[in-house]
Amino acid sequence: MPHTFVIFGASGDLTHRKLVPALYRLFRKGRLPAETRIVGFSRTEFSHGDWRANLAESTARQVGEDFDAGVWAKFAESVYYHPGDIGEAKEFESLAGFLRGIERAAASMRVYYLATAPRFYELAIEQLGRSGLAAENGGRRRVIIEKPFGTDLASARRLNESVHKVFREDQVYRIDHYLGKETVQNLLVLRFANTIFEPIWNRNFIDHVQITVAEEVEVGSRASYYDTAGVIRDMFQNHLLQLLMITAMEAPVRYEAKSVRDEKVKVLQAVRPLAGEQVHADTIRGQYRGYAQTPDVADDSRTATFAAVKLWIDNWRWQGVPFYLRSGKAMSCRTTQIVVQFQEPPHMLFPEGPRSAVESNRLVIQVQPAEGIQLHFQTKVPDAGMRLRQTDLDFRYQREFRGAIPEAYERLLLDALEGDASLFARADEVEAAWAICDPILEEWQRGDQPKLHLYEPGLWGPTESTGWMLDQNRQWFDICPVLH
Ligand code: BG6
Repeated sequence: MPHTFVIFGASGDLTHRKLVPALYRLFRKGRLPAETRIVGFSRTEFSHGDWRANLAESTARQVGEDFDAGVWAKFAESVYYHPGDIGEAKEFESLAGFLRGIERAAASMRVYYLATAPRFYELAIEQLGRSGLAAENGGRRRVIIEKPFGTDLASARRLNESVHKVFREDQVYRIDHYLGKETVQNLLVLRFANTIFEPIWNRNFIDHVQITVAEEVEVGSRASYYDTAGVIRDMFQNHLLQLLMITAMEAPVRYEAKSVRDEKVKVLQAVRPLAGEQVHADTIRGQYRGYAQTPDVADDSRTATFAAVKLWIDNWRWQGVPFYLRSGKAMSCRTTQIVVQFQEPPHMLFPEGPRSAVESNRLVIQVQPAEGIQLHFQTKVPDAGMRLRQTDLDFRYQREFRGAIPEAYERLLLDALEGDASLFARADEVEAAWAICDPILEEWQRGDQPKLHLYEPGLWGPTESTGWMLDQNRQWFDICPVLH
C-alpha cells in the first residue's frame, strides 16, 4: 500500500536537520516503502519546487558525502508542500483535498508527524480529528509526536486525553530518539541474546549503576526553550529514564511492542518516589558559569543545566542497588555511557590485589560517540610476583562493523511507517516518567535545597557532585571515550 508522510511544522529545524535527511537516507538504501510521498505543512509560503530546493540544500549539508544529486532528484519527485495554518480548520480541509489528490484516491497509509512547537500539539490533533484526516476509511492513520510530551504529569495527562479523543493508543508513536540509537537497542541484545550477563545482572553481583549523558555544548540558540525546561525536563524525563528502563527491565516474553513496553513501565512503577528531604539528599543540581549571561536567559535564572539523581528500584532484582543518573551541558566531553559496577570479590586472595571498590569488575556500555562495550577485569602483571592490574576487553562498533552507524531517526521513522511501536513511548510510560520527575522539580522550585551549584564549563559538573559520590564510597566514571 502507498504511504504518505505528512510533516506539520515543516519549515522548522527538525525537518531540515533530522526528518528529511533520515527519509532521504532510507530512500537511498532502498528501505523506504515503495510509493512513499512526503508532504510538508506549515505557514510559510513555498511552491513545491522552492520547498524541494530548500530541502536539497539542508539535506546535502546534513548527509555530507551520502548526498547524490541523482538519487535526490528521484526522491524529490515524491516531496510536496502545502502551506497552511494549524489554527485554521479550513486549511486542514484543503490539506485533506490535497492528500486525496496526490494519493489519486487509492487507499494509502498515512503518518502525521507533529514537528511543531509543542504548544500546537493539542490543536493539531483536534484539527486532524475535526477534518476527518484521522479517520481510517482510506487506509491506516498514525501520528508521531515529538518530545517534549507535556511539561509535567498534569499536562502530559491532558495531552494524552486529547490525543485519545482522536487516535487509539496503537496509532500513537511518541518519539524518544534515544530508543532509535543502535547502541541502546544493542543493550537489549547484550542482555537478552547472551547467557553470560543476565544471571549476574542483579543485586547479588552489582554494586551500582551509573547512567551519564554528558554534553560538551552549551545551550546556545535554544536558550529561550531551555530556560523554561532545564535538564530534568530536557534530558531526564525522557532519555535518561529510557536508558534506565532498558538497563533494569525484566526480559519481555517476546520482542514486540506490548511485551517490551509492559516490562519497561514496570521499572518506572518500581522506582521509589523521591520527595521532600529525600530530594535534598539524593539530587545534585548545577548551572554552568556563564549560563545566566546567555541571550534569552534571565540574569537571575535558577535553571539547572546539570543534575545527578540517585534512584532506587524497589523490586526483587534491584533491591539495595542505587542507580545514579546524571546529565549536563558544558561538560568535559560528549559522552553517553552506562556503567555497571560489580561488587568487590568477597575475599581478596592476593595481597597486592586491588584495594578499592572501583577496581572491581565494570562493564561500560558506550552509547555514543565511541560506540562500544568494555569489560574491565583484573589481570596478573607478568613477571611481577602476584601484582595485579585492571585491563579490559574492548568491543568497538567502528572496528567490528563496516559502515556508519545510522541516525536514530532512520530506524524510528521506518518503524512508524511499518507499524512497529516497540521503540516508542506509550501513554502510561510518559506519565510514569513525569511522576518520577515532578516531585524533584517541585522541591527544587520550592526552596534552595539542594543548592544550585555553579560549575566551570568543561568539567564534569559541580565538584559537589564528585564529593556526593565519594561520601557514598563511590566514584563517578569520568572518562572521555577515545575516538579512533
Ligand atoms: C534533545 C535535547 O532531546 O537531546 C537536547 O533537547 C540534547 O538538549 C539532545 O542536546 C541530545 O541528543 P543526542 O542524540 O545528541 O545525545
